[in-house]
This record gives sequence, structure tokens and C-alpha cells, in this order.
Amino acid sequence: MSDQQEPASSPSSGPRRPRVVVLFGGRSGEHSVSCATAAGVLSAIDRQRYEVVPVGITRSGRWVLVDDDPAALELAEGRPPVEITEEGTGRGTVTLPQGGRGCVLVALPGQPPRELAVDVVLPLLHGPYGEDGTVQGLLEMAGLRYVGCGVLASAAGMDKQVTKVLLGAAGIPTVPHVVVSPRTWRRDPELVLDACEALDYPLFVKPCRAGSSLGITKVDRAQDLSAAITAASAVDPKVLVESGVQAREIEVAVLGGRDGQAPRVAEPGEVLMDPEQGAGDFYDYQTKYLAHDAVSMVCPAPLRSEERELLRDTAARAFDALGGEGLMRVDFFLTAQGQALVNEVNTMPGFTPYSMYPYMWQVSGTDYTSLVSELIELALERSTDVNR
Ligand SMILES: Nc1ncnc2c1ncn2[C@@H]1O[C@H](COP(=O)(O)OP(=O)(O)O)[C@@H](O)[C@H]1O
Ligand SMILES: [Mg+2]
Repeated sequence: MSDQQEPASSPSSGPRRPRVVVLFGGRSGEHSVSCATAAGVLSAIDRQRYEVVPVGITRSGRWVLVDDDPAALELAEGRPPVEITEEGTGRGTVTLPQGGRGCVLVALPGQPPRELAVDVVLPLLHGPYGEDGTVQGLLEMAGLRYVGCGVLASAAGMDKQVTKVLLGAAGIPTVPHVVVSPRTWRRDPELVLDACEALDYPLFVKPCRAGSSLGITKVDRAQDLSAAITAASAVDPKVLVESGVQAREIEVAVLGGRDGQAPRVAEPGEVLMDPEQGAGDFYDYQTKYLAHDAVSMVCPAPLRSEERELLRDTAARAFDALGGEGLMRVDFFLTAQGQALVNEVNTMPGFTPYSMYPYMWQVSGTDYTSLVSELIELALERSTDVNR
């Protein structure tokens, strides 16, 4: 790229601002949600401090330069969900060179690719090919620093069964469950159904690697279990069957510590569902995305001080148990007896300005712009050496 064509030029005086690639879109079902997140981040990121290069990933996985126009990326009523396409939104393609040189290759239309040095990548991607360690691995190979969890923590956090194994090893309680492997389910379904008899109804049947409650069924009767396992296995061949717990749903935001310090933990937030306003009988897809009046997020959650301490302490321990970096939202079931069971962790939680993770930080004294800066500064501190 010539200097004129660089997406933004540094001010002539003073040190160069770190160049941040904001990466969004992607191959998962949460493509448009990711674009909306990017709209929030592009509007709020501190431009005095960082030079910003928006890069979208098409649904087929191509990386393209995108106009720095948050309004075009927002989810808006009366307009189809935003989609990054090479023809529509792309102004040139972006690829990653081999050899770990800490740059990307940008090819403007009709021109050969040129190197563009990048200081940090901010992946705002959810789900498969985004939150599961795959993009993180690609960035490691390219020698690029990035915000958020590394390869292992991302992959482990995406897989609910692996998460339970790691948390269990750290003495952190999770919900009693049975793992259904595709091979066992095919060869000996009776064995699986027998094992599930030890669990308490209602059962929750879920794919190990998914999100947004996709593929999850609440099962009240044994005769419905088989169909629920088959439905979950259409989303991920590895399935979890869990005892249903009657509990409050509390979420805790964790932010990686600077300079080797312990992670920071925000005030816990609670998800409240109102069946009279159309909430389902659990936090299902419909309730999450379609029944807007049925769900409210309360932060700080009304908690006794020992419950608050237990949740915040357990969230920090879960972050460490998974080897978390940058950010993680740890989701709990808090029982009437005061037990805090980890339900799941999210290494790229919802991150629009209205999402729970930024909201919990806002309430805890870190606004959205400062949160984005803190995450970038954490990433800039990281080594690009995998054996660091
Ligand atoms: N064992 C369980 N007991 C009670 N409710 C559950 C259980 N597992 C899941 N749920 C309900 O289903 C929702 C989605 O499950 P979760 O494991 O968080 O999947 P996702 O990754 O799709 O969010 C939870 O927020 C909760 O309302
Ligand atoms: Mg969840």
C-alpha cells in the first residue's frame, strides 16, 4: 500500500498510534450480530489513541476491507440483517502472510497485495470459526497480537464438556451430567439412556459446542430423551445431558489482569425472565432474541455479600482454570441453598454497547470506550511467541 492508500494516516507529530484491525462478520450464524458489535466498537473506540482498520469476514470466510461506517453495520428495524460480501461491502481483500511477520496483506482492487503492519487484532466474532480457537490459531501463525483468549482457552471454552473437565479439576462445581459421544449413541443408545437415569428431571439436553441456546431441549419425560439427543446431535455430534437445576441465572464479567496481576471481576448481573411477557420456560433462543420485553438484565444483582463474594471469586478461578486472557463471561446457576454452579463460559460474550458484559463493566465503573482500550492494551502486552 502507498501511504496515501493506508486506511488512516498517523498524525505527523508524536508516536504512531497502535494500528488495530477490528475483525467481524464471519462464518457462524451470528454474522449479523457480530457486525452490530463492530458498529458499537467502531463508534466508541478511542480514535485519538488508536488507528482503526475495519476488516469484515464474509459468510464464505473471505476477509475484506470494509468502510469505516458504523451506521451501515448496525442491526436496524425494517432493514435486512447486515451481511459482509466481497462485492457489496469489500473494498479490497485481506490475507495473512506466512512466517509470523505481524502484518496483513491488503490487495486493493486491481493492485498487487501490499504488507500493512498491524499492532493488534480485535476479533469480534462469536461461535465456530471465531470464538473457538480457530481464528486465534490463524493469528498466532501470522505473528499477530489479538484481544481475548488464546487458542486453548477459546477452544476449551467453546466446548461445554471440556469446560466442565477443566473446572472440575480446579474444584469448581458444575451441573451433574452425562456426555453422549456420537459413537456410543450410534452403537449403544440404551447404555446412554441408562446412564441418564442417574440425573434429575427435567433434563437439559444440549450440543457441546454451540451457543444462543441452539439445539437445546428441556426434557420432562424419559420417553422424550432420545429425540432430544438426536436434535442436539444435529448441531454438534457430541451432546451433554444435564440434571435440571432450579436456580437464579447470574453472569459475571472477568477482564484479564494487566502486568501479570489477577483478573478484574465486575459486579455480577442477573438475567430475569418474565413468562407473562413471553419468556419461555428457560433462557431459550426465542427468549434471548425475540421476546424483548420478557428479559431484563439487573446489575448489580441483588445478592447477599457472601453470595457476591463466592460468585466473583469462583468466576476469577474459572478464568484461571481455563487459562483465560482478555475477557470471559462466566455464567452461573445460583441455587436457593447458595451454591454457585458454573453453567458455561463465553470467551467472546455479547459485546454490543447494550450487551450484558459491557453493561456489567459500565456499572462497575469502566465505560465502553475504556473497556475497549483496556482490552487492546492487554493484548499489546502479550508476546507473539507461542512459548512465551
Ligand atoms: N442444567 C440446566 N438446568 C436448568 N436450566 C438450564 C440448564 N442448562 C441450560 N439451562 C437453560 O438453558 C439456557 C441455555 O443453556 P446454555 O448451557 O447456557 O447454552 P448456550 O451456550 O446456548 O447459552 C440457560 O441459560 C438456562 O436457562
Ligand atoms: Mg448460555
